[in-house]
Amino acid sequence: MRVLVTGAAGFVGSHVCDALLSAGHEVVGLDSFIPYYPRATKEANLRNALAHPAFTFHELDLRSDYIGAALDGVDAVIHQAAMPGLMPSWTRFDDYMTCNLQATQRLVEAARIAGIRKFLHISTSSVYGSTAVGDENQPVAPVSPYGVTKLAAEQLILAWVRSYGFPATILRYFSIYGPRQRPDMAYSVFIDALINDRPITIYGDGEQTRSNTEVSDCVRGTLMALEAGLPGEIYNIGGGRVISINRAVAVLADALGATPRIEYAPARLGDQRHTRADTRKAQQAFGYEPTIDPEEGLVNQAHWQSRVRVTTRLHLADKREPAQLPAIRPIHRRSGS
Ligand SMILES: NC(=O)c1ccc[n+]([C@@H]2O[C@H](COP(=O)([O-])OP(=O)(O)OC[C@H]3O[C@@H](n4cnc5c(N)ncnc54)[C@H](O)[C@@H]3O)[C@@H](O)[C@H]2O)c1
Repeated sequence: MRVLVTGAAGFVGSHVCDALLSAGHEVVGLDSFIPYYPRATKEANLRNALAHPAFTFHELDLRSDYIGAALDGVDAVIHQAAMPGLMPSWTRFDDYMTCNLQATQRLVEAARIAGIRKFLHISTSSVYGSTAVGDENQPVAPVSPYGVTKLAAEQLILAWVRSYGFPATILRYFSIYGPRQRPDMAYSVFIDALINDRPITIYGDGEQTRSNTEVSDCVRGTLMALEAGLPGEIYNIGGGRVISINRAVAVLADALGATPRIEYAPARLGDQRHTRADTRKAQQAFGYEPTIDPEEGLVNQAHWQSRVRVTTRLHLADKREPAQLPAIRPIHRRSGS
């Protein structure tokens, strides 16, 4: 199958590309390197895929650039691209509105015209609101502009499903962690602080709980949904056992042999209190079940992140050039899609 992955240079998108390539698919990656975090980090995410002969890459912005060439010969689309993160959505609403909504509208219409056979739209547990505990029928009540734009994007996709019979399936991810986690996300920030002996700020009392999804579970669920997710259906993709933030910090500190210095601060506007994914619908539809225990996954991320930092430091000390990235293929930009 030839699959277009949007947001291919991002945390989850890059893992999805790697997994599709390993499974023998042809992959077209697309990303505009939105400067939410450094481009160099995203280029490093793409390194494996760019070295694979079955991968092609288009650097383009879904909000404004011509999308048709990236869809050429494509059977399926996995739409990962978005402005993520809750907090900046209070102050940078334009970016969220355009990347999460306008970009989705342009992509879904271009995909419809191209006649693609399967479209996976990636959404989030943030559509449920401050407590995301239960199955897909719990009420949606987002508490951040990010959640609102992601919910609106779901509705947009469903309008295409209802009106055109567009073959789209929606996945709601529950916060994801593991190697390549975005540098703004809590575990990545905690690990960085522990490695550098900096204090850790925990917002709230630290007893908020998460059923975080290890990225390999998330990717496996995504590929299963690509094969067997039904059009017009919404599936939760989440982790199993819940863990509190306090416990997560203790596990990370232990893995790194560090002593955490924790500072507690008031909970932030839009923070979720508890999340626990009920994934039975995905289990029944395509056999998805989370397999990674959170403590095992956190230790793995801590070790990965400290290895990446040591490698970077060695490169600097030796004054060696970091491995050259294969050139990113330019695309012809045309107006309209
Ligand atoms: N990471 C999580 O915990 C989590 C949880 C729930 C849902 N999600 C969803 O999963 C998806 C991936 O999230 P992530 O954490 O990998 O984020 P990420 O920021 O690492 O990846 C998103 C990528 O999309 C690209 N992008 C954004 N706007 C674009 C545009 N207009 N045109 C082209 N490319 C664009 C960015 O440059 C980025 O590389 C998102 O849809 C997000 O809402 C993530």
